[in-house]
Amino acid sequence: MHPLTYAQTHHDKFLEELKTFLRIPSISTQAEHKADIERAATWLRDALLDAGFLKAEVLPTTGHPIVYAEWLAAGSAAPTVLIYGHYDVQPPDPLELWHTPPFEPTVVGDNLVARGASDDKGQVFVHLKAAEAFKATTGAPPVNLKCIFEGEEEIGSPSFNPFVFAHADLLAADVALISDTHILGMDKPSIVYALRGLAYLEVKVTGPDHDLHSGIYGGAVLNPINALCRMIAQLQDADGRITIPGFYDKVRALAPDERAELAKVPFDHAAWLKEAGVKADWGEPGYTVIERTSARPTLDVNGIWGGYTQPGAKTVLPGEAYAKISMRLVPDQDPKEITRLVREYLLRIAPPAVTVEVRDLHGGDGAIVRRDSPAMRSAFRAYAATFGVEPIFMREGGSIPVVATFQKALGIETILMGFGLPDDRLHSPNEKFHIPIFYKGIETVIRFWEGLRDAGV
Ligand code: BES
Ligand code: ZN
Repeated sequence: MHPLTYAQTHHDKFLEELKTFLRIPSISTQAEHKADIERAATWLRDALLDAGFLKAEVLPTTGHPIVYAEWLAAGSAAPTVLIYGHYDVQPPDPLELWHTPPFEPTVVGDNLVARGASDDKGQVFVHLKAAEAFKATTGAPPVNLKCIFEGEEEIGSPSFNPFVFAHADLLAADVALISDTHILGMDKPSIVYALRGLAYLEVKVTGPDHDLHSGIYGGAVLNPINALCRMIAQLQDADGRITIPGFYDKVRALAPDERAELAKVPFDHAAWLKEAGVKADWGEPGYTVIERTSARPTLDVNGIWGGYTQPGAKTVLPGEAYAKISMRLVPDQDPKEITRLVREYLLRIAPPAVTVEVRDLHGGDGAIVRRDSPAMRSAFRAYAATFGVEPIFMREGGSIPVVATFQKALGIETILMGFGLPDDRLHSPNEKFHIPIFYKGIETVIRFWEGLRDAGV
């Protein structure tokens, strides 16, 4: 039997197994889920062994564990592929907006609905099932496989990045493979060749040392929430252009040929508005929505709080105000440098009557990978054969900082072989994974590995 036939005849088994994985609430950002994180790591290790990997282990770190596995049976002449993914998920909040429980995976039409279904457990699982297809048929994959799955991706990979630099020998490979991005549609396969970076910080503004009556003190004491809002308003103009001095200095400009290529990405404006649930698009003039969401930097307030937020009215002049601010960066912006620029600017514009502190929460580099490598050509052919249409190249606006880490620490390029769909609702209520793509993903990966072996990458 060919591995593709095995993959095509075991759909139900694969789906049931994926559901087991999705039932574990491996939320990396919440300390109370530490045991679930451990459970997910162990589950994954066991699933790797079941899929045929000769070695699989849970490696503790100072943060959440890393799952490492290898199956090096294709011989030293065959290429080695390093597969990366993450088994941690975002919190499911707000819970009341889910139509089915986030950790009880439910089939709704063609979709499997659960937190982590698309980002990234479902996409990680694709690789395990592709490996299993070889185990059950030819006996072993056509290339050497190493897997490295982390539990900290959604919190900025604090232990993972140092691990990669410290274990460059263990992770040595010819190419990295990551399924944690999108394709445009079942009939519109696409390959992502660039991702944005991220700088994330928290601002605290302190005013009076205790909450004050706003009638007694209002007018003579600067309200830290008002101050914070004025400061935030100075970070960006009305069109979304960032006004922090130096912010755009390192931004790699879009070359005309790349703009021409991005213009070919099919884009239905009305459908996009509907999917985003907004009445109009917004942003930097002179750039298309596709460019603004993938090749231009951004600044967003992710959360803002302070004072009275319960029902009803309370006349209070609060002592503190907070905001979480993130910036999506493009190559060659350096997250550390950007954080420094923002901090300096905020401290400079801070009104003297309040105290401003800026805390660096985390960050990661953006990345661009080559579109003309032999591995990229294999990926191209694998999508074309599986979906019956040639994929187009595109950039995405999310961040997978490990792509840059692999370039720097291991000197290898990454193939972003994503199987999400644009409406998967990553990080939102009712996240889902399109089940037919789950199955097609397994076939694409099987073809990709075979193609790599034939190309001798
Ligand atoms: N799968 C996403 C990255 C992604 C999202 C790529 C959308 C392309 C399109 C990943 O799991 C993720 O959410 N990453 C975080 C990274 C951050 C915490 C460093 C992100 O982009 O917010
Ligand atoms: Zn994510």
